[in-house]
Amino acid sequence: MKTVKVGLREKSYDILIGYPLDEIGGILKKHTKGIKSLIVTNPTVAGYYLETVERSLQKAGFQVFVAQVPDGEEHKSQAEASKLYAKCLEYRLERESIIVGLGGGVIGDLAGYVAATFMRGLPIVQVPTTLVAQVDSSVGGKVAVNLPEGKNLVGSFYQPFLVYIDLAVLKTLPVEEIEVGMAEVIKYGIILDKKFLEYLEKKIEKLRELDMQVLERVVARCCQLKAGVVKKDEREKGLRAILNFGHTLGHALEALTDYKKYKHGEAVAIGMVGACRIAEKMNMFKKEARDRVEHLIEKAGLPARIGAELSVDSIVQVLSLDKKVRAGRVRFVLPERMGKVVVRNDVPEDIVRDVVTGLME
Ligand SMILES: NC(=O)c1ccc[n+]([C@@H]2O[C@H](COP(=O)([O-])OP(=O)(O)OC[C@H]3O[C@@H](n4cnc5c(N)ncnc54)[C@H](O)[C@@H]3O)[C@@H](O)[C@H]2O)c1
Ligand SMILES: [Zn+2]
Repeated sequence: MKTVKVGLREKSYDILIGYPLDEIGGILKKHTKGIKSLIVTNPTVAGYYLETVERSLQKAGFQVFVAQVPDGEEHKSQAEASKLYAKCLEYRLERESIIVGLGGGVIGDLAGYVAATFMRGLPIVQVPTTLVAQVDSSVGGKVAVNLPEGKNLVGSFYQPFLVYIDLAVLKTLPVEEIEVGMAEVIKYGIILDKKFLEYLEKKIEKLRELDMQVLERVVARCCQLKAGVVKKDEREKGLRAILNFGHTLGHALEALTDYKKYKHGEAVAIGMVGACRIAEKMNMFKKEARDRVEHLIEKAGLPARIGAELSVDSIVQVLSLDKKVRAGRVRFVLPERMGKVVVRNDVPEDIVRDVVTGLME
């Protein structure tokens, strides 16, 4: 068991890692005076874990209500948020009632958004059940819903009062979802922590097999690293942008294929390779380091190349529309060395073109 502290003054909170789900009630009781709780989850996660969480909360003296949202990114929507507000009203939740977000990033973002906005804010505990949610979305307080026009267009910064992570829940997660999470895990190593990247190079197979000791160390380190960035830049005014490493090209690939061909982590994996190659072409990053990154990504079961069905032109064009464009120039997060990145908006288009072309070979 490990605890990572997210230091944000009066908004500080703990991330508890490696705690069994059936002990959540007792621990939450120490954090709140509230009696009512609303578990927000989806049928997939509920099938495995709802009863355990519900019972544990009841045993600790909470009155428990449950709201289920259909599974899928398309339900991270205003429509589902409205249905959840209706539930909050129906169950007469009050300022001290707690919302429990039990699920992956979709549930966490949606439940967090509802918690942030209903009655101007109810306390929320995040109980992330995917690797992505455990190392990324549950940490840092970004909450949002999608609009038909784009992802995460309505949202807020709203910190949970606790993140409660049971690592064993990952055993029921499909292996592709583990791989998606591994892309973000590798990202932290490249952008912030050379030693951690070396550890991953040794243990990536163990991580894929969900060795619990490796997993605990990895999840804890990722949470620590993200917490460190969030602490310095809670509202994404500057430094937090480094967390978008691999996401500039990644988002372009996702958008061009209507979010159907690539899972987010796969697109980010290709995007990280792209960023390393751009950095290499700009003489900022050594070829050996770039080879190491590509090797690790492949070992993690992630793609390092773009499928042949997209054209270089379409990718370059979409890149220049990406929301990370500042003052007309595309912003790339580029590695200088392992564990250190910089944000650059001066990458010449012909380098981007060369690299994208190379990724298709
Ligand atoms: N707020 C942030 O900072 C942040 C960061 C990264 C991603 N996100 C958001 O997170 C979302 C993606 O999250 P995700 O990758 O967790 O996807 P997800 O929430 O859709 O979960 C993936 C799938 O796994 C299922 N599932 C979840 N836990 C399971 C378990 N333990 N066993 C079996 N199945 C399980 C889900 O029902 C779903 O079908 C996106 O909406 C993205 O925008 C937010
Ligand atoms: Zn991501």
